[in-house]
Amino acid sequence: GVSLSLREPILNWYAEKARDLPWRRPDATSWGILVSEIMLQQTPVARVLPAWEAWLRRWPTPADLAAEPPGEAVRQWGRLGYPRRALNLHACARRIVAEHGGEVPSRYEELRALPGVGDYTAAAVASFAFGGRHVVLDTNVRRVLARAVQGVRYPARATTAAERRIAESLLPAVDAPRWAVAVMELGALVCTARSPRCADCPIIDRCAWRLAGCPDHDGPPRRG
Ligand code: ADE
Repeated sequence: GVSLSLREPILNWYAEKARDLPWRRPDATSWGILVSEIMLQQTPVARVLPAWEAWLRRWPTPADLAAEPPGEAVRQWGRLGYPRRALNLHACARRIVAEHGGEVPSRYEELRALPGVGDYTAAAVASFAFGGRHVVLDTNVRRVLARAVQGVRYPARATTAAERRIAESLLPAVDAPRWAVAVMELGALVCTARSPRCADCPIIDRCAWRLAGCPDHDGPPRRG
């Protein structure tokens, strides 16, 4: 169906246009990927980049951070915002040392049980750090699916069962993490919230929202 034919153009677009972000490189550690996902929860990429580099220079492993008092994590967090995340990362590091031998766990359920790790972050780390096959639904992915598949400008406020079914039906058997990051990147760079760059979109000819004439959103303006 329409959904299946979304994959190839999006993957080809990603191969050509993706940003080179350090946590996506092959040498990124599972700890580096966990730190990146926690930082990216509420902070834009441009501000995360230097903070992520500095954090990993100082604490290259969970054990390095676990050996310090929590206040040091908050100090190092600086102005990234929502400093509770620094305490969560510190608590993650101590739990990883105490319960997982110092290695970030690889399974979704184990990750989900860590402080500050919700459904999105557990799926992202299980996928990007360990190659697991998980539905990774962040705001960017949800917006792309709302438009391309559901034919509406914005997704619902909270994730629906229908959305999850759509995302699952699209998940490839092979290389699911690459698919997840490709859709995320399309949402971040092209299928943006306010002014989507449809002229640069690899699926413009099959986007359900576009085919419907780009109908406006019902209700108040949305950010996501
Ligand atoms: N690459 C992997 N996860 C990401 C995220 N949450 N935001 C931006 N780029 C990413």
